[in-house]
Amino acid sequence: MKPIEIKPGVYFVGAIDWDRRLFDDLVPLPDGTSYNAFLVKGSEKTALIDTVDFHMADVLFDYLEGVDHIDYIIAHHGEQDHSGTLPRILEKYPEAKVYLSPKAKGIFMDLLHLPEETFVTVQDRETLSLGDKTIEFIHAPWVHWPETMFTYLQEDKILFTADCFGSHIATNELFVKDEGIVHEAAKRYFAEIMMPFSGVIKRNMKKIEDLEIDIIAPDHGPLYKHPEFILEAYRHWVYDDPKNEVVIPYVSMHGSTKVMVDHLTAALTERGVTVRLFNLSEGIIDIGKLAMALVDAATIVIGTPTVLTGPHPNAAHGAFIVNALRPKVKYLTVIGSYGWGTKAVDVLKGMLSNLGKAEFLDPIIVKGLPRADDLKTIEALAETIAKNHEAQSFA
Ligand code: FEO
Repeated sequence: MKPIEIKPGVYFVGAIDWDRRLFDDLVPLPDGTSYNAFLVKGSEKTALIDTVDFHMADVLFDYLEGVDHIDYIIAHHGEQDHSGTLPRILEKYPEAKVYLSPKAKGIFMDLLHLPEETFVTVQDRETLSLGDKTIEFIHAPWVHWPETMFTYLQEDKILFTADCFGSHIATNELFVKDEGIVHEAAKRYFAEIMMPFSGVIKRNMKKIEDLEIDIIAPDHGPLYKHPEFILEAYRHWVYDDPKNEVVIPYVSMHGSTKVMVDHLTAALTERGVTVRLFNLSEGIIDIGKLAMALVDAATIVIGTPTVLTGPHPNAAHGAFIVNALRPKVKYLTVIGSYGWGTKAVDVLKGMLSNLGKAEFLDPIIVKGLPRADDLKTIEALAETIAKNHEAQSFA
């Protein structure tokens, strides 16, 4: 295969993984993914930007057929979907040096067992000349690992952003064509991977706001010839207030918690609040769907019965995911029932410690099947949620 030219002297040499359906043995990939890598040929030097997942190394080597010399390998990020083929690349191009952030060096040595002399560490805003092209290194720590960096190809105005701004889509359309499709996939990707680091993403977005950018080239999914599309989407996800929405992940064993969840859903609906229900009876079927809902939610209500005094394990799994993803939720609480004793609220509250800035509303825990009074209490909870959202103008 011939490298695909993006701009004169800049080529896509990545791998499209049409068949992958799970990432990290956790995240569903309904549309596959890609591992984007790039070859930059300057008038004097040649650089490879990132590699591909090890199991697709042959695709990268196909693209590099006829490339007899690489001077520099730019390694944005240590995770193996981008670094996994690096040892084989260095076998073919032993003259190449790997340029990475100081924090990355140890990570690469630990993950890939490469010798220290392979690496050259670069400082934030340091540059590297390829002759008529200049690579500028921009440290972007915690997007989403501590060592991550972006690079800016100054003359071509291409910003390479590692995982940031990516989407898990397998497509042979190199650039975004249908923004609606990519928006959905990029939001799913943001929610699953970037949302826990929203604070540092704000800082990193400030670092790039003065750059003139023709193309944003992430390490997954199609590239952006209209960078403002993805930058604006990230501004909404990171900076905007949450919406007038409640996410309810719940489990019900004998129907009591379901009665409560259904009553709360109806009461919120009457009050104009959008509800996103996730029945976890079979576990979390698609973490991405739950994660996307959390991007916009102002309130989370976890519904659980009691199992051996604690929450149902599937509700606990839901709480674990919510806590790990650190959504910008403002209110949370727990509803559910028990037969003879419960500590479910205390356990779940302890599991949601990352959401410490959110207000914990009064939980509703009912012994057995909810009675008329319990349903009134649920209506009062709906009223509180609706009023809280209205008071803060969540739309
Ligand atoms: Fe696409 Fe964090 O690796």
